[in-house]
Amino acid sequence: MHRWTLELPLFAIIMTPPQHDVLTIETIPVESCDDGTVVALVTINRPNKLNALNVDVTTAMKEMVAWAESEDLVRCIIITGAQPLAPEEGKRAKPNAFVAGADITEFQGAGVEEIKIKFTNNAIETLWNLSKPTIAMVDGFALGGGLEVACSCDIRIASTRSKFGTPEINLGLIPGYGGTQRLVALLGYGKAMEMVYTGEMIDAVEAHRIGLLNHVVDADDLKQRTLEMACLIASKSSHTLRVAKKVLRSALDEGLTKGVATEARLFAELFSTEDQEIGVKAFLNRDKAHWKHR
Ligand code: COA
Repeated sequence: MHRWTLELPLFAIIMTPPQHDVLTIETIPVESCDDGTVVALVTINRPNKLNALNVDVTTAMKEMVAWAESEDLVRCIIITGAQPLAPEEGKRAKPNAFVAGADITEFQGAGVEEIKIKFTNNAIETLWNLSKPTIAMVDGFALGGGLEVACSCDIRIASTRSKFGTPEINLGLIPGYGGTQRLVALLGYGKAMEMVYTGEMIDAVEAHRIGLLNHVVDADDLKQRTLEMACLIASKSSHTLRVAKKVLRSALDEGLTKGVATEARLFAELFSTEDQEIGVKAFLNRDKAHWKHR
């Protein structure tokens, strides 16, 4: 007699994400996955200050990264900025912003040692070091520290009305959250120099043309398009994604010769994983891969 066994998906429980007034986290189930996989949509929430990064935001961001890293079912993280609130009567509406930079009010009167402490191992570096895929969803100004947040994500998708720049030069400063290094990696030396020297803003079409953005879409389509990409990425093996991120990073950190050797080593190591066996078998059987994520 044939005995049927019902295999229920083992839903691990996601711990409630840390919530702050200035940074909210929504977990969005990935429909194509039957194991509880989610995308985390993280919103920087200071719309009246164009989502500028003050100490509350950066502290909350570090906490968010630790949470996202520890939650197995969080497989892709989207970072965005809150939309403007309805204006108070008689006042003009604030513009759309991803993040308009570090909070400039916190620079006033600050000294070298204080800034050194604040900017060493900062929240944006923590985001960069998150081992999972990250996407910046940009709708509006991405300036200074805001552009640096976007550059710390793996992929950038923006609305046509977005604007990008490193205006720190106008404050007698330079980017301080790793922006100089990551802009050179993304744009090349010449374009990065031009942006940092002039402090001028560029629009989304130009940002896309020079390689700063992966995609430019209408504002109305931004969330849908970003979620589609996030869910697609989240449906892959999280273990393989982590290895992919590590290897692509080695291209930046190690240079070509060492990077190729790192790739060869980590590529070979994937052949000891269940997910590699599952993926190959699923392809050969014309089946869907059900990842073990290890
Ligand atoms: N830090 C602190 N507050 C900021 C900010 C920042 N980086 N960027 C914007 N704000 C605040 C403004 O002070 C203003 O606050 P208020 O309404 O309480 O006065 C509010 O956000 C709206 O900005 P506002 O300047 O009125 O909007 P705008 O449409 O006239 O101009 C920008 C938009 C983005 C051009 C302008 O806000 C700007 O240049 N911001 C600073 C960008 C910058 O230099 N970033 C790098 C910092 S290192």
